Order: sequence, then structure tokens, then C-alpha cells
Amino acid sequence: MKRKAWLGLTKPFVIWHNLPPESGRLAQLVERLLYTENVGGSRPSPPTIPLQTEDVDMSGSNAGTLQSYQDHVQDYIDGTSQTVSGAAGSWIDAALSGLPTTARLFELGSAFGRDAAYMAAKGYAVDCSDAVPAFVASLTARGLSARVFNLLTDELTDSYDLVLANAVLLHFTRDEFLFALKAVCRSLTAGGRFAFSLKRGQGEEWSSAKLGAPRFFCYWQPEQLEPLLAEAGFSSWTVETAVTQRAHADWLFVIAVAPRHIGLTSLQRLKMSYLPGDLSFD
Ligand SMILES: C[S@@+](CC[C@H](N)C(=O)[O-])C[C@H]1O[C@@H](n2cnc3c(N)ncnc32)[C@H](O)[C@@H]1O
Repeated sequence: MKRKAWLGLTKPFVIWHNLPPESGRLAQLVERLLYTENVGGSRPSPPTIPLQTEDVDMSGSNAGTLQSYQDHVQDYIDGTSQTVSGAAGSWIDAALSGLPTTARLFELGSAFGRDAAYMAAKGYAVDCSDAVPAFVASLTARGLSARVFNLLTDELTDSYDLVLANAVLLHFTRDEFLFALKAVCRSLTAGGRFAFSLKRGQGEEWSSAKLGAPRFFCYWQPEQLEPLLAEAGFSSWTVETAVTQRAHADWLFVIAVAPRHIGLTSLQRLKMSYLPGDLSFD
């Protein structure tokens, strides 16, 4: 038993020797020890909350909304502000605050790329996406990096320091909204941020305003968000209310932060990966 324990403890020293001698070697060692199952010792994501896709009725409301966008891309562009300002600008600035320009940024529902261009002008590289192919074509034509990605049906496989979704989750039912929160939380690096905005109000509705084609909207109040953010696995958040000059004046600007700490699950993984089965620190 003593020999097995010793063999288990030699691994940290082997890893230490194979790491480059630059500063941060200790931090890298800890990260690799704790997250050895992340290929290549990549940055960890916070403890995961299971996605229960079977509980979410991926209703036709989002698909119908996307079809309306696909058929009316130019109407959306013509009817939407082309510049970032006011409460939305302050919110994006707060989401970027303290992030180095090397941070990994992913935007959901980029549409024609107004917010991505704003962040790019500040030196950040933004991966844009949208579920509507016609928007992705317009993003690519603008020189932005973009791909077709549907948050309700495609899987987020990379890790991001910031995910931004401006006026996107307002097109989801309440079940889809919780599903989306969980999916994004899982994709964030430790301490990573999810910045999203919603229309403040009551209930749900279909509206043909702006596009002349129907879009589904779900309205939210700040107090409805808190339990869902917690359930999705976020450790902290800010929810700013704002009254804007837009057709729908009342908005919610949220920045939710993924846990920074190492969860119990990770400690259990460390024990399973590096300590002999008959040695326990419980
Ligand atoms: C109101 S627009 C906001 C666009 C842009 N973020 C802005 O602020 O101008 C909603 C955007 O969300 C996108 N969207 C809706 N459902 C989506 C989904 N399931 N996955 C990804 N994008 C979606 C739409 O295609 C559209 O670009």
C-alpha cells in the first residue's frame, strides 16, 4: 500500500519537470492535476449542471421566429440601431471590464454584427454566430468570423471567457431559456461571464412589428431570473434595469458569472485520478 501511494505521488513531479520553466508553472501544475481529463491540460470549465434536453420542449416558436428573420434580414437591419450606445454600451463595457484582449469571446445571435464590431474595435477577437444563415452571410461579408449556430439545437463545445447574447434569449420559451442558461454556463471558463439582455415585462406574445412577420417574445422580471441563474450554476450576477428610447423601452441587462472555485466534483476526480484506490483522504 505504501509503494502504491508513493507511485501516485510521483505524478506531480513528473508533470512539473515536463512544464516549461516560465512563470506560472505552479498554477499550471495545479490545473493539470485537477483537470487531467481536459485534453492538453486546457483551462477548466466550472462544475457542470446536467442538461436535461428531454425536459425541454424545443417548441416550434423559435423555429418560426428564425424563419421570419431569414425572410426579413434587411428589414431587421433597416429597423435596428447601427451603433452601440446608452445602457447597452455600458453593459457591454462592463462585460468586457478586466478581460485581456486575448480572452475568448463568443457572440450568440450576432445578426449583422453591430456589437461584435464594437468589441473588435476595442481589440478583442470575437467569434460571431447566428442561427439564421442569412445573418451569418452578412457577418462574413462584413469581414467578421462567423458560423451558423443554434443555441437550442447545437452543442457548445469550446470554452469561453465571455459569451454575449444581446436580445437573443427573449425569443425562447421559459423552459428553453433555462436550458440555454445551463448550456452557456457549462461552456464558460472558471469565472467566465455570460452577458445577455432581455425585454422587461409580463407574459409572452407573438409580434409582427419591425419585420412584418411573426416573432415570439418572452418577457421577464428581474426577480424571475435569480432562481434560474442559480439553478443553471452561475455563482453571481448583476441584473440592471434600463428604460431606453427603443420601441419596447424597458430592458434587463444581465452579467452572470460562472464559479471560480474548484468544486467538490473536481476534488473527487483528483482523488480518483491520482491516488491509489485504497488510499483515502475523506
Ligand atoms: C432581436 S435579434 C438581436 C440581434 C443582435 N444581437 C442585436 O442586438 O441586434 C435576435 C437574434 O437572435 C437570433 N436567434 C434567435 N434564436 C436563436 C437561437 N436559437 N440560436 C441562435 N441565435 C438565435 C436571431 O437570428 C437574431 O439574430
